[in-house]
Amino acid sequence: MENLDHLITESQADFAACDNTTALDDAKAKYLGKTGALTSALKGLGKLSAEERPKAGAVINVVKQSVEAALNSRREAILDAAQAKQLAGESLDITLPARAQSTGGLHPVTLTLQRIEQLFHSIGFDVATGPEIETDFYNFTALNIPENHPARAMHDTFYVDDDHVLRTHTSPVQVHYMEDVLKDNKTPPLKIIAPGRVYRVDSDATHSPMFHQVEGLWVDEDISFANLKGVVQDFLQKFFERDDLTVRFRPSFFPFTEPSAEMDMSWNGGWLEIGGCGMVHPEVFKHVNIDSEKYQGFAFGLGVERLAMLRYGVNDLRHFFNNDLRFLSQFSK
Ligand code: PHE
Repeated sequence: MENLDHLITESQADFAACDNTTALDDAKAKYLGKTGALTSALKGLGKLSAEERPKAGAVINVVKQSVEAALNSRREAILDAAQAKQLAGESLDITLPARAQSTGGLHPVTLTLQRIEQLFHSIGFDVATGPEIETDFYNFTALNIPENHPARAMHDTFYVDDDHVLRTHTSPVQVHYMEDVLKDNKTPPLKIIAPGRVYRVDSDATHSPMFHQVEGLWVDEDISFANLKGVVQDFLQKFFERDDLTVRFRPSFFPFTEPSAEMDMSWNGGWLEIGGCGMVHPEVFKHVNIDSEKYQGFAFGLGVERLAMLRYGVNDLRHFFNNDLRFLSQFSK
């Protein structure tokens, strides 16, 4: 029988020349396919005598096994190389810094409101709220500012329609709160602050068309102007953490308080205006059926942005509302 050993070296060379499995399958056919050299050799066994057949079969099988081993090892090598190439292409650069999770933070005005609420809460004030779109009645009339009263011109009002305005101050919450309390058949003492947004047609470095106020109201049988001064000064000292801070009251006019005053606080050797205040006007009590012979009360309104600007050293009010993260992120803890 023909010597088949050359098939081993030939097949190894053929397989080595293949760089993908399709080519390898083609090369395999030349040896192990239906008409391949080894298949033909095996077929040829039938022509041999019964004596020669086992020996020749064994020889062919040894060659066949070698060819198969060469085929398998080449197939593995091709698959390994393909996988290595894929992994190299997909490799991750684990030295890249992770994408940061931005957590956000509270707005400086929100932080200021929280601080104000916390301080007033500690001396027994509840928090009350009211609508930002007010009727003319609550924003003006119930606060003793009748139609055509010049005081309406003091407020540069945004009108929603003939009868509705964007509230120009938080004072209407005084009226809502006193009405609600009396509806529930409760009586004074009433002790609230009313923080919230207010609106005026005004815009420059110290005025924004939307800003925040905190209203204060304390009604009881023996409330005096002295209580007002004490509460406001105490609050400001705690808010700014300065025991030497003092408050000055300048006579002023508000239709819903009598007497009325502007409040200034001492700051860097001078005085800064921080809001208005006074004793609740009997006309306001009349609107909500509180007996002004029996009860007195004080009210005040503080500008929240003003307090925030002083506390944080911000010199332009518009920073608060420009939504610039470089500014805002300085306040997140
Ligand atoms: N509502 C007044 C304003 O916005 C401030 C104020 C409040 C004055 C309460 C007196 C009493 O100008």
